[in-house]
Amino acid sequence: MKLFIDTADLEEIKKYADLGIIDGVTTNPSLFAKEKISFKEGAEKICKLVNGPVSLEVVATDFDGMIKEGIQLSRVHKNVVVKLPCTQAGIKATKALAGKGIKVNLTLVFSSAQALLAAKAGAAFVSPFVGRLDDIAQNGMDLIRDIRTIYDNYSFKTEILVASVRHPVHVVESALIGADAATCPPKILELLFNHPKTDEGLRNFLEDWKKSKKSL
Ligand code: E4P
Repeated sequence: MKLFIDTADLEEIKKYADLGIIDGVTTNPSLFAKEKISFKEGAEKICKLVNGPVSLEVVATDFDGMIKEGIQLSRVHKNVVVKLPCTQAGIKATKALAGKGIKVNLTLVFSSAQALLAAKAGAAFVSPFVGRLDDIAQNGMDLIRDIRTIYDNYSFKTEILVASVRHPVHVVESALIGADAATCPPKILELLFNHPKTDEGLRNFLEDWKKSKKSL
């Protein structure tokens, strides 16, 4: 399963890219709004830091605007994936952009029906938001299971990119279900590394070694 980082923070992207665990980046207007850098400069720098799909989102909500912004974003770098909201205009624009060879990530997906339309429109990625479903007492991971089944039934090539990830269990469950990718905020990537028994075990090994007065 691919791991993407869900942020526009260049330092965080660099940190996890340097650790060698990042396959791509997802951003959204809220994430870019938090950063001091201009959108264009930030987007270009992200594409230099990670050699993989970088999702950049349009802010237009009408078909013509999405096409115009989608083409503009796709010119930032060859790895850019244009992120469109899963609305009627977004689905129509997905088909049009995919027809021009531009990859689309359909975002703000909350149902299997939307995911089915995304695949039929030729989206490269679909982004179901599991955390935001959990927030309203619906099981986000059930949606991932259903989308996996639907896509497998018809051999759809659209990749399932699990989004709105809130804890490491979302990541592990995504992998068990067979999602293609999960996008995580930096704080969740950090948690993936941790286990108290690893820290305890390492501490004990090093203390025993020190007491032994041996050298390598
Ligand atoms: C996905 O691409 C979105 O940027 C993101 O995962 C949304 O997550 P949130 O629900 O934590 O804002």
